[in-house]
Amino acid sequence: MKNLTLMVDDLGIATITFDVPDKSMNVLSAAVLADFAVAIEQAVANGAVRGILIASGKASFMPGADLTELVQQFGRKRDLAQAAADNVAFSKLLRRLETCGKPVAVAINGVALGGGLEICLACHYRVLADDPKAQIGLPEVKVGLLPGGGGTQRLPRLIGLEKALPLLLEGNSLKPAEALKLKVVHEVVPKEQVVEAARRWLLGTPTAQQPWDVKGYQMPGGANIALPAIGMLFTVATARVARATLRNYPAPPAILSAAFEGAQLPIDRGLAVEIKYFARLINGAVARNLIRTMFVNKGLADKLDRRPVAVPKSSVRKLGVLGAGMMGAGIAYVAAQAGIDVVLLDSTGEQAGKGKGYAANQLRKEIEKGRGTQDKADAILARIVPSTDFALLDGCDLVVEAVFENRAVKADVTQKAEAVIPKNAVFASNTSTLPITGLAGASKRPKQFIGIHFFSPVDRMPLVEVIVGRKTTDETLARALDFVGQLRKTPIVVNDSRNFYTSRVFGTFCHEGRALLKEGVEPALIENAARAAGMPVGPLAVADEVSLELQWNVLLQTREDLGDKFDDPVALDVLERFVVQLGRKGRKSGGGFYDYPAGGKKQLWPGLAGQYPRAAAQPAVEEVRTRLMYIQALETARCLEEEVVTSAAEADLGAVLGWGFPAYTGGTISFIDTVGLPAFVKECQRLAKAYGPRFKPPRSLVERARRNETYHPA
Ligand code: NAI
Repeated sequence: MKNLTLMVDDLGIATITFDVPDKSMNVLSAAVLADFAVAIEQAVANGAVRGILIASGKASFMPGADLTELVQQFGRKRDLAQAAADNVAFSKLLRRLETCGKPVAVAINGVALGGGLEICLACHYRVLADDPKAQIGLPEVKVGLLPGGGGTQRLPRLIGLEKALPLLLEGNSLKPAEALKLKVVHEVVPKEQVVEAARRWLLGTPTAQQPWDVKGYQMPGGANIALPAIGMLFTVATARVARATLRNYPAPPAILSAAFEGAQLPIDRGLAVEIKYFARLINGAVARNLIRTMFVNKGLADKLDRRPVAVPKSSVRKLGVLGAGMMGAGIAYVAAQAGIDVVLLDSTGEQAGKGKGYAANQLRKEIEKGRGTQDKADAILARIVPSTDFALLDGCDLVVEAVFENRAVKADVTQKAEAVIPKNAVFASNTSTLPITGLAGASKRPKQFIGIHFFSPVDRMPLVEVIVGRKTTDETLARALDFVGQLRKTPIVVNDSRNFYTSRVFGTFCHEGRALLKEGVEPALIENAARAAGMPVGPLAVADEVSLELQWNVLLQTREDLGDKFDDPVALDVLERFVVQLGRKGRKSGGGFYDYPAGGKKQLWPGLAGQYPRAAAQPAVEEVRTRLMYIQALETARCLEEEVVTSAAEADLGAVLGWGFPAYTGGTISFIDTVGLPAFVKECQRLAKAYGPRFKPPRSLVERARRNETYHPA
């Protein structure tokens, strides 16, 4: 058996030790399960064996299923019964384990998540390591699934529905002390003693029966839905789930159903219920989209799969940041956290100091929350040197420019920095709109010039958009990606164009919101439809946050740059009216589409109705939602066609991690794939007829639809 060993000792204890070859962790796969099944049967058949001990040969126990193997199921066309049949083996194996007639104990020497914990729950005795890295949990909900190996049945039977539901629905894990308190494990001992403790139990007077297999078993807290407490629990949980998911995520309601229905039944029938719900999720689009974007493709991007391989690996030891405003301060902070020395320049000492103050402030908050120590914070702060002196940039491996969004200012600091930095240093601009190739015109070394576009707030936003200019070399790209990797952020690589990828598509969401407003659609309807679709905030609110004035200035600049080639975006006049005529420039300037009363909650500006009177006929919420989602997906398809973004995977990552396109869709391109290209195109044609040519699908999309292809491989 490749993935585990089975050893029987003199005292009749059979130890099954998981040790998956060529992996740092014991990831669960079909091959591992096949070996596990053989090992169990051998131990059971061996008359000399009186107890079975399950352990791990790795530093940790088991992190869960191999998601890359799971994804391979997604292309398959099959009905629910077939999907259940394809996935029932694990559940049956664990049932066999707990009813095999011999006592089974498990030594959990670290992390046991997902299927890893489900194995433990099927053992009669669980010993967990008292270790800071140890944790147990059922995080399946986070990938759009439910625990299909008995997790929704055994956990409630062990600790009661009330305590089990939050763990199943939120997917958070438990530290050893909490796990013991909740009685999910029987014993917590020092890590090096877990095997010994499990053995000791097996050699004592163990039972070979789970509580739920003992005659007269009652679930802790009861299970009958007719009991007032259980009825109430179910009602409240259902309402909470509906509110949290807005019915966009099918896993939480499926978990509730599996847990409650299963709890009314004997365990075997409960397990059958669970696998039926599991089959629905694994056959549905949400799990596929979530796993593909948030785990598989994010994992690849984090491993810098876009990095030109021929270039030797590099790292930044000294970083220059030009401009200590909102962005520069954030970049300096995350770089210092990553152990990089930072020179933070601004035009006055006061501004530069204020930039460093941001890091000090964030670190203080972290300490207040119990994360990190004063020593560590001091060390991070000591790495940031605020200054006005360009000479300090000497020796920088990389410089990020984050001064005002103004070509002349950017050109000036580029030249000043290049006069000092080493010949081979990379110069990056954090511009969010100005084409990189144009900015590189001010540089003496355009081959080493690149865009590294961070998002605000830099310390919280995981995405970085790396923009390749016309002259940017592979080496520069590789070094920029190495830097992003050092900061532990997720990069996507895009080609140079106005607004690049993320800002361009995000802009269409804001424009469409204003178009709706102009048509007289109820503002609250616009905002609610966006939120119901899963956008973090509505298009009016988010435009206020970004600043209407900023958006207006960017459009003016674009118009100036492009002249006749500039197509006014829809409802540009709404923006103009707010910024120029009404002086309502957004949140920071005191108000825009919303009012921001001091100390109170923001509310839609009551004057809106006077500016854009409410139309007599209001559209259905579904129609507003469709417009707001389709316009973003369409613009992404255009970016792919124009090769601004070059892969469906990166387009999706940029959408979800960059501007908050809802994760359940998997991103803008997965959204189109999920609707189906022919249906998507047809709907776009309808929208174009009703609302204007901005909804006209690009040619490449129409052709792909005609061939009945998807963007992502099946
Ligand atoms: P900001 O106005 O907060 O900061 C700009 C800083 O640059 C100010 O502290 C200013 O004193 C300094 N500065 C201006 N001229 C300078 C000079 N000649 N030498 C040294 N320092 C100088 O602006 P923010 O928001 O930080 O934006 C900076 C850049 O980042 C812009 O290019 C912007 O487009 C881009 N960006 C902004 C995002 C945002 O959400 N605010 C997101 C992504 C990129």
